[in-house]
Amino acid sequence: MFSLHLQSMKRLIHFGPSLPALGQTPYAPGTPDWVQANPARIERALARALARPSGGWYVVGASREIGETPTKHRILGRNLVAWRGVANQPMVAPAACPHMGANLADGRVCDGKIVCPWHGLALGEARHGTWAPFPAFDDGVLTWAQLSADEVLTPKPFITERPTRFLDAVIRVDAVCEPSDVIRNRLDPWHGAHYHPHSFAQLRVISESDDDIVVRVSYRVAGPFCSEVDARFHCPDPRTIAMTILEGEGKGSVVETHATPIDETHTAVIEATLATSDRPGFGLAVSASNLLRPLIQKRARRLWIEDAAYAERMYEIRQEKVAKKTRISLGGAKRAGSSHKG
Ligand code: FES
Ligand SMILES: [Fe+2]
Repeated sequence: MFSLHLQSMKRLIHFGPSLPALGQTPYAPGTPDWVQANPARIERALARALARPSGGWYVVGASREIGETPTKHRILGRNLVAWRGVANQPMVAPAACPHMGANLADGRVCDGKIVCPWHGLALGEARHGTWAPFPAFDDGVLTWAQLSADEVLTPKPFITERPTRFLDAVIRVDAVCEPSDVIRNRLDPWHGAHYHPHSFAQLRVISESDDDIVVRVSYRVAGPFCSEVDARFHCPDPRTIAMTILEGEGKGSVVETHATPIDETHTAVIEATLATSDRPGFGLAVSASNLLRPLIQKRARRLWIEDAAYAERMYEIRQEKVAKKTRISLGGAKRAGSSHKG
């Protein structure tokens, strides 16, 4: 199944497992990508994603970065601190000390509690006045916190199906936009080959439903050498879009893109790649994960620096529309006021 085969197609050299023959596809071959990338369709898919439950959970960051040293985070306009508590449990709590407001992220961890740098108050799982840690969950790759009480709360976040053996890498890119702009970007797979020609060569949508979109895409490994895969995009919650490789090299691998609101105008894109493979050497790759992780992160970051610009542009367009509406309504009110005076 995994014997190397070369196939030349429009100066691309494809390698890896053969993919199943394509049946009926939603768009006729040759339909230009800009015609397929129907903005109304993308908005409908986004509305369905945003209507999903989240259980009140937000991704805080990579689990491996939360440890004995407290880390600073800002989510939903709140300053937070995270650390490892008793029995290695992730802890996420308000960063301001309940005594006089010192930043607990500047403190230290002792016996699973965070110790305030100013007067030594040790805080853990127990409430102290108005201060209390938030429910936190470590899914093995990412740490989440349940920060919103406005939704139906669930005991744990909605996590997409993941491979059992994987090499994981997490990146973070901040953008001036809302979480919906990040999801909107990924609900438009048609931009891939045009906007990221260094990474994608060809893309074809092979099925679409209310809940997912499946594409056949040529991923550039190096120059003309491409790995062709079938990949499914779906949103397990309103701030996450996951891509799962269904067929081809790396079958079962998942890329989860999480959009965590920093405040009203900024969003953190936290993306976890969980790469897997049936190839016999994959066990070696997993054991060399510390060497390979930076390579995965470098490629993912390059894509997200570009996609953050896309998301920021979508946000900017919306802001321009709001500003224009405000100018029109202010202009109308001004004209009504001057005619009233007259
Ligand atoms: S400000 Fe934290 S113990 Fe005083
Ligand atoms: Fe992109």
